[in-house]
Amino acid sequence: MPEALIIRRGFGEEQRQAAVSILWEAFAGKLGRVLRSREDAVKVLGPGPGLDPGHTVLALRGDVLLGVMALKDRSGEAMGASLRDYARTYGRLRGPIRLALLALLGEGAPANTLMVDALAVAAEARGQGVGGRLLGEAEAITTERGHRELALDVLADNLGAIRLYERNGYAITSSGRLWPPLSTLFGFTGYHRMTKPASDGRG
Ligand SMILES: CC(C)(COP(=O)(O)OP(=O)(O)OC[C@H]1O[C@@H](n2cnc3c(N)ncnc32)[C@H](O)[C@@H]1OP(=O)(O)O)[C@@H](O)C(=O)NCCC(=O)NCCS
Repeated sequence: MPEALIIRRGFGEEQRQAAVSILWEAFAGKLGRVLRSREDAVKVLGPGPGLDPGHTVLALRGDVLLGVMALKDRSGEAMGASLRDYARTYGRLRGPIRLALLALLGEGAPANTLMVDALAVAAEARGQGVGGRLLGEAEAITTERGHRELALDVLADNLGAIRLYERNGYAITSSGRLWPPLSTLFGFTGYHRMTKPASDGRG
């Protein structure tokens, strides 16, 4: 019998590199030009607050890491590498520029809202319900923290992910677009904000 899927909040230091690698693989298309390489992504998100266990949820089968969900709310965010981390990795001039570019992509979470900042499943484990289970944990956290809403941003052409979110009760509530040169740099134009009220009906 295959081992059960375990959803776990937080991670041990020995899982940090694998978690960053899964995030990198899933988002290299979008963030590759800015973060430059997997090694640099690991370097910048690797240490200390770069990837915060307090806002990260893992999906594991045995010891094998299959998926990562990075969360963000007013109390903090999973991917909160500092200016110092970027400067250390990319240099004192280029580091802040890269961080500023990334900041253009993501604003802070709205009040009373849990944002799924990134959802990434290892390529070989997709289509087995791992993403759906991670989203279920986001709902549990939303209720525990007393938030009213879940929210996420998804690229308009990521139809598979949009289907997954719709199946899990999210609906598109607004849309936006990037213009050149940012659209060229990040490799996309349109994106949607999808939201879902907290399941206890307070939303
Ligand atoms: C989107 C993603 C997290 C889904 O995780 P998952 O574990 O495969 O999801 P589940 O098994 O719970 O659900 C499967 C659904 O995911 C979607 N999906 C997207 N890409 C998929 C892929 N390569 N393989 C299988 N399903 C995929 C489909 O909608 C599928 O449902 P369908 O049967 O209606 O087609 C995963 O494909 C992934 O990491 N993709 C790359 C990163 C990404 O796009 N993240 C979302 C950005 S907001």
